[in-house]
Amino acid sequence: MARTLPGSRGGPAGGAPAAPARRGAVARPTALMSVPTEAMLRDAFAADVTEYLRRTPRQLPSKYFYDELGSSLFEAIGRLPWYRITRAESALLARHAREILRPLPHPVSLAELGCGSGEKLAILVSSAVDRFPLIQLVDVSPAALDTARYRLEALGVRASLAHRATYEDGLERAARHRPAGASLLVLFLGSNIGNFDPPMARDLLARIRRVLRRGDALLLGSDLVKPERELLLAYDDPLQVTAAFNRNLLRRINDELGGTFDLQGFAHRATWNAGARRVEMHLVSRLRQHVRIAAAGFELTFEPDETIWTESSYKYEPSQVLEEGLAAGFGRGEQWIDRSARFVLTRFSVPV
Ligand code: TRP
Repeated sequence: MARTLPGSRGGPAGGAPAAPARRGAVARPTALMSVPTEAMLRDAFAADVTEYLRRTPRQLPSKYFYDELGSSLFEAIGRLPWYRITRAESALLARHAREILRPLPHPVSLAELGCGSGEKLAILVSSAVDRFPLIQLVDVSPAALDTARYRLEALGVRASLAHRATYEDGLERAARHRPAGASLLVLFLGSNIGNFDPPMARDLLARIRRVLRRGDALLLGSDLVKPERELLLAYDDPLQVTAAFNRNLLRRINDELGGTFDLQGFAHRATWNAGARRVEMHLVSRLRQHVRIAAAGFELTFEPDETIWTESSYKYEPSQVLEEGLAAGFGRGEQWIDRSARFVLTRFSVPV
């Protein structure tokens, strides 16, 4: 049966303070599980928005893209002809599922960080539904978690566990709930690693390495450097779905924090920073404008052309991914590459 443990709901901001135990909550093996309330999540959102908008240049943390509408818009991005990551990765998973799973000692439990709708997870799982004693889903979006759980249930998966949490919290939770006597494959797909700057990416990989044991593995999806024209179309598509996805962050601040952003007053901009090898996503103020965010008690003025930096998407070379794995404490990695879309899946195994 698919279920969400009440104690497994994490906040979007890591390290949220512990909430009092809920009446009737399932008894937890560990005494202090934090269960942030909606009010706590909102406070953390307000605090992050204030902190990041005060920075120079102004920023917003990208994990807040993924509310219900944001997750749906991202699903649509994955189907755009100009955004090839999702299709390329799905095809690699479909073609190499058995090979990817082969070295892992039976039975194998899975945990996906940032599972979204669970479409890619389902591709891997459908190769051998009975092989997985437990599948854990980690995402900041409850809507995405629901979709992923239904998808797995429909496939015949009997045990799944959903954690509404950031990557870091979700990783800890997944490690705590791993079934005894099973190996663990952590999935970190969709080039989500590319949304971290290099030191943070290495830190996250090292964190993943630390929770893994002998026989476990990490499957990492990374997008590769490719011609600038292709990259810009992928992150600034002619249907403007990506623009809507980016602006949805402001809509969310308006709805949840009493913000007064004029959505038409901000343009979506994607640029390729060749030196840093990253696509940068910005929201650019079209004019001088004043914005209030009631729940944060925060006001600010944007000058014409002033930007909010909402996301980076770093692009790699296959060899660089292997090097990052080594630096994070993994041994040799195994790679599957889509040379046309220029995308790579890397499996880092911990030797038995
Ligand atoms: N991990 C995805 C990527 O870097 C996230 C993403 C895709 C994204 N398109 C976006 C983030 C547009 C912000 C804006 O490809």
